[in-house]
Amino acid sequence: MTQNRRVIKAVIPAAGLGTRFLPATKAMPKEMLPVLDQPAIQYVVAEASKAGLKDVLMITGRSKRALEDHFDRVPFMEATLEAKGDTEKLRRVQEATDLGEIHYIRQKDPKGLGHAVLCAKQHVGDEAFAVLLGDDLIDERDELLSTMIDVQEKTGGSVIALMEVDPSQISAYGCADVTAVEGEDYVRVNGLVEKPAIEDAPSNLAVIGRYVLHPRVFDVLEETKPGRGNEIQLTDALETLAAADGEGSGVHAVVFRGRRYDTGDKLSYLQAVISLASERPDIGPELVPWLKEFVSKH
Ligand code: G1P
Repeated sequence: MTQNRRVIKAVIPAAGLGTRFLPATKAMPKEMLPVLDQPAIQYVVAEASKAGLKDVLMITGRSKRALEDHFDRVPFMEATLEAKGDTEKLRRVQEATDLGEIHYIRQKDPKGLGHAVLCAKQHVGDEAFAVLLGDDLIDERDELLSTMIDVQEKTGGSVIALMEVDPSQISAYGCADVTAVEGEDYVRVNGLVEKPAIEDAPSNLAVIGRYVLHPRVFDVLEETKPGRGNEIQLTDALETLAAADGEGSGVHAVVFRGRRYDTGDKLSYLQAVISLASERPDIGPELVPWLKEFVSKH
């Protein structure tokens, strides 16, 4: 039975054009923007790897070759660092390559997140799998993905992650209508709506970029018509699954209360960099007093 297998594959959509960061992203994928000394995408692959998902499929597109280079070996650089005895830098360089087996496929048309996930159908096959969106970083000290995998194995359907947001923010997210499940710390999803206006939102629970999906989602995505923004929305396919019957139906959610950083737009990207840097032992102790002084002057 499909739902008895441990989830082992992760899908990371990375085909977006990154127009919010132009001109920085003119010749460089937005996923390669550094968050401190690591490209944003490496945090996401590391999170998948830590949750035991070592088979990663990246859905890329044109001008995304730097992603493949980043997760590949660099023999000359590695040899140079080794000859110099710079083991710490060598370790940092090799870290990205050791995270797992990374595969790449191109999304040929920009038809939306649902369409990007559908590109993974062949690779994933008939197994539950995780989807991690590159704009969302989850603090490595907070647990989310493993909990979601456990819930998927228990419920057999699909699992999303939700986070409470200020109601004024909900129109930037998918939004869920949920009910509690007695005796459990996850909730049942009754309905979902992609980026609703504040007055149409069923709650202030926002969908964040982590999913553990039953493969039935592929059949549903194939039938899903373009929705918001004329794109095939993953949220709409999940809305269908939430209301469906039979194997692979049903959607549950884990409400995340940990630290999430958004690197999707300029302001939140800066906030993510500052938050992470403040807590890094090699930078934080100097950065935080400087920040305080900076703020007091402005
Ligand atoms: C996507 C999803 C949305 C979700 C968001 C989380 O939107 O469509 O439901 O809330 O990711 O980051 P995007 O931000 O890619 O427009």
